Amino acid sequence: MLKFETKTLSTHTAELFQKAVLEAADLLKQGELVVLPTETVYGLAANALDAAAVKKIYEVKGRPSRNPLIVHVNSLEMARECAGEWPAIATEMADEFWPGPLSMVVAKGTKIPDIVTAGGPTVGLRWPSHPFIQAVIAMTGFPLAAPSANLANQVSPTNPHHALLQLGGKVALIVDGGQSQVGIESTVIDVTQSPPVILRPGMLSPGRVAAFQDDRQKALQAGELRSPGQFIKHYSPKAEVLLLRWADISNLLEQLQGRKIDPIKCSVIAHSNVPISSVFKRVSVIPEDAEAYARALYSEFYACDEDGCSHILVEEVPETFEWMGIRDRLKRASA
Ligand code: TXA
Ligand code: MG
Repeated sequence: MLKFETKTLSTHTAELFQKAVLEAADLLKQGELVVLPTETVYGLAANALDAAAVKKIYEVKGRPSRNPLIVHVNSLEMARECAGEWPAIATEMADEFWPGPLSMVVAKGTKIPDIVTAGGPTVGLRWPSHPFIQAVIAMTGFPLAAPSANLANQVSPTNPHHALLQLGGKVALIVDGGQSQVGIESTVIDVTQSPPVILRPGMLSPGRVAAFQDDRQKALQAGELRSPGQFIKHYSPKAEVLLLRWADISNLLEQLQGRKIDPIKCSVIAHSNVPISSVFKRVSVIPEDAEAYARALYSEFYACDEDGCSHILVEEVPETFEWMGIRDRLKRASA
């Protein structure tokens, strides 16, 4: 279903930024979808108050109708208007982490159409820090439902080029807001439960969440797969992803031989133990720093797929909590 000649608009000067805000806002007011930059990943946005517009998100992505969407706001006030009951912890967390890569699941308000929450009684809310999506929400005056701007089960875009690969011909407009600075999707926390439960880890580390208030330290627990849309296999490149440890190149080659995998068809993503060798299709190094790693990971997945490799060999990452969101995405990509 290629209906559009997809246009990409730049935002690197004040005039271009303003022009793109106006065009994006116009399309959204007409009930159309627009790909917008956020600090986590690019989003496929629609007016969250317009059920017909939101329906297009599910159609374009091929998203299962039982997977709810995150609603993006640009103030605490707008968040509360989208919510039903608003617990005190939500205000505390918003004060600490908004705007930023935190989505909070709260009771759904009556303003939000059922299709946004996949018929469920709760809604995920996020106030993103990226100035462009903030400006668009300010211009339209309505909240934006926006999942990641990829086809269902594929890797989230972290730049406009990725978004075009995913949704070219399927949307009228992609706004170029540069490389997403966080690089993986937001941390989703259900605050309707006491203690709150992490449904999807992100770069907001549980340590940081717990540290913001000592007496909540023990309260916060990592939930597993509690989001209705959290399927194990998710965020996957086309190539098969293998999480491996190796002592040196010959040890890695032995492991591949054991699995009957041809190294020349493999891409390696390493952070510490780099097997520099022309026996692989490509070898990329991402720094062993969780924030830098998250920022670069999806671009590496896209690059490996563009190279047409059969396997992506990812060096296992540290077990510490800073890496929790990254470990979650690697586990899903390799499932
Ligand atoms: O960083 C992000 O969150 C990006 C950017 C665009 O904001 N958005 C994003 O949306 O990753 P999406 O749709 O790809 O992932 C949203 C996740 C899904 O796992 C969904 O199941 C969960 O959030 N979610 C949304 N609303 C929920 C709710 N009411 N209850 C439980 N989980 C919810
Ligand atoms: Mg997604």
